[in-house]
Amino acid sequence: MVSIAISGFDYNHDIYELLRVFFPNEEIVQLDDINSNKEDYMVELNVRCNRCITNLYYNKKLLSSYEENLEKININREVDKTLRVGIKKSLYNCLERELNTHLPWGILTGIRPGKIADELFEKDTNEINIFNILTEEYKIRKDNAKLLIDISKKQKKYIYPIDNDRYSLYISIPFCPTRCIYCSFPSLPIKKFDDEIPKYINTLIYELKCISEMMKDRKLDSVYIGGGTPTSIPIRELERIIQTVYQEFGEHIKEFTVEAGRPDTIDKEVLQMLKDNNINRISINPQTMNDKTLKTIGRNHSSQDIIKAYNMAKDIGIPTINMDLIIGLPGEGIEEIGHTLNLLGKLDPENLTVHTLAVKRGSKYSENIDKFDRKDIDIIQNMIDETKLFAEKMHLNPYYLYRQKHMLGNFENIGYAKEGYECIYNISMMEEKETIIGAGMGSSSKIYYMRENRIGRIPNFKDLKEYINRIDELLEKKKNCLYRETINIF
Ligand SMILES: C[S@@+](CC[C@H](N)C(=O)[O-])C[C@H]1O[C@@H](n2cnc3c(N)ncnc32)[C@H](O)[C@@H]1O
Ligand code: SF4
Repeated sequence: MVSIAISGFDYNHDIYELLRVFFPNEEIVQLDDINSNKEDYMVELNVRCNRCITNLYYNKKLLSSYEENLEKININREVDKTLRVGIKKSLYNCLERELNTHLPWGILTGIRPGKIADELFEKDTNEINIFNILTEEYKIRKDNAKLLIDISKKQKKYIYPIDNDRYSLYISIPFCPTRCIYCSFPSLPIKKFDDEIPKYINTLIYELKCISEMMKDRKLDSVYIGGGTPTSIPIRELERIIQTVYQEFGEHIKEFTVEAGRPDTIDKEVLQMLKDNNINRISINPQTMNDKTLKTIGRNHSSQDIIKAYNMAKDIGIPTINMDLIIGLPGEGIEEIGHTLNLLGKLDPENLTVHTLAVKRGSKYSENIDKFDRKDIDIIQNMIDETKLFAEKMHLNPYYLYRQKHMLGNFENIGYAKEGYECIYNISMMEEKETIIGAGMGSSSKIYYMRENRIGRIPNFKDLKEYINRIDELLEKKKNCLYRETINIF
C-alpha cells in the first residue's frame, strides 16, 4: 500500500495518477491527516510560499526529501498549469531518485502527450526550447521528446489552417467472430446476436441519415468504419452502410477506412466489394505473427491467414493497408517480436500501428493476469525499441501517438505510415481540432468548439438494446450540441 498526504493545493487526481505509474501494483490511499498512517510507502506533498516539498517515507522512516522552487518552472504556459507541472516534477524527482525508476513519459499521465508539444509550438517555434521544456520540466525521456516534436511537425499540414466546415465520421459495428482475451471494446459475439443485426443496421442507417441532415452545410473529409469487426457482418449489409454514406454525405470523401481486422472475416468477395466502393484504407491486424500466442489470446486465425488476406487485398488493389500489433502479449519476448517483424517486413504495409498491451477491466485477461515486475517492463521496452528500428528500416514514419490507461509500463501506442499514407482520421481523432461525429453503438461524438478551443463529447449508448430503443434521444443530444457550436461561432 502507498499512502499520500497532500497540503497546500488540490490537484489530487494528477498526483494519484503519477503515483500509480511509479507503484503499478499497489493500492494508493489518500490520508486526511498526515499522522494517521505511515506504514509501507508514504508520500507527503506540501506546497508553501512557491515551494513544493516532497517527502518519501518507508515504514515511518524518511527515505528522501525533495524541494522544487515553483518560481523557476518555465513551461511557457498559464500560471495554473505551471504550478501543476512544478508539483508533479517535485514528486517525480523525489521518487525517481529514491526508487531508481525513470519513466519514459516523465510526469505525463494523460492520453495525448502530443498536445503539449503542439501547444508549445503554437507559442514558440524554436525546437531547442521546446525540447528543453519537454525533457527538463516535464521530465520526458529525450527520445520521446524528439518523437513528440517530429509528430507535431508532421501533423501540422493536416490540421492547419483549421477549417471548421470540415469534419469526420466514425461508424461503429460492434460485432466480432469471437472475443479476444485482452479486449475491452464494445464487441458482441456475432453468432449470439445474429437476430439483432438487421435491427442494428436499420437503426444505424436511420442515424446516418439524420446526421447527414444536421451536417448538410459542412464537408465530410474522412470516414472510419470500426468496431468490433465490420467485416464480420453480412457483406451486403456492410455495402448498404457504405453506400448510405456516399448517398447521404456526398462523394467528396478523401479517405474511407474499413477495419477488416480479423482475417477470419475476410475473403475475395468482401475485399472486392470494398474496392468497388472506393474504400481506400483497410486494417488487417495480426497483433502477433506467433500462432501459439494467437491461440492463447483467443483469435480464431493463424499467421498464414494474415499473409493470405494481406496478399488478396493487395492483388485486388486496396491502396493502403494498416496492420496492428500488440507488444506485451502473454508469453512474448524479444524473439517473438523478431519473428513477427520478420514476416511483416515481407508484406511491407503502408501503415503499422504498434500498441502496448493495456490490461483493462472488462477484459478476460484482467481476471487472470499475474502482477508484472520491472523485468517485464525492460522486456517490453526492448520489444518497442525493436519495432522502432523496424519502422525506420521500412520507411514507416511515426505520425500519431497516444496512450491508454492501464498500459503495461506506462508506454505508448504509435501509428507509423509511409510518406503520404498518413491516416487523416487518426490524426484528427488525436488532435481534437475538428469535429468527429460518431454513429452506432458505443461510438462517441466529439464536437470541436473552435472559439473555446475545446471538445465536447456525446457518447452513444454502449448497450445494443438501449442504442436501438433510444436513438432519437441520442440524435436530439447531437443536434443540441451542434447548435451550441454554431451559435458560439457566429
Ligand atoms: C478497436 S480494436 C479493433 C480492431 C479489430 N477488431 C481487431 O481486433 O483486429 C483496435 C486495435 O486496438 C488494439 N487493442 C485492442 N485491445 C487492446 C489492449 N487491451 N491493449 C492494447 N491494444 C489493444 C489492437 O491492436 C486492435 O487491433
Ligand atoms: S480485439 Fe478486435 S476482434 Fe478482438 S474482440 Fe476486440 S474488437 Fe473484436
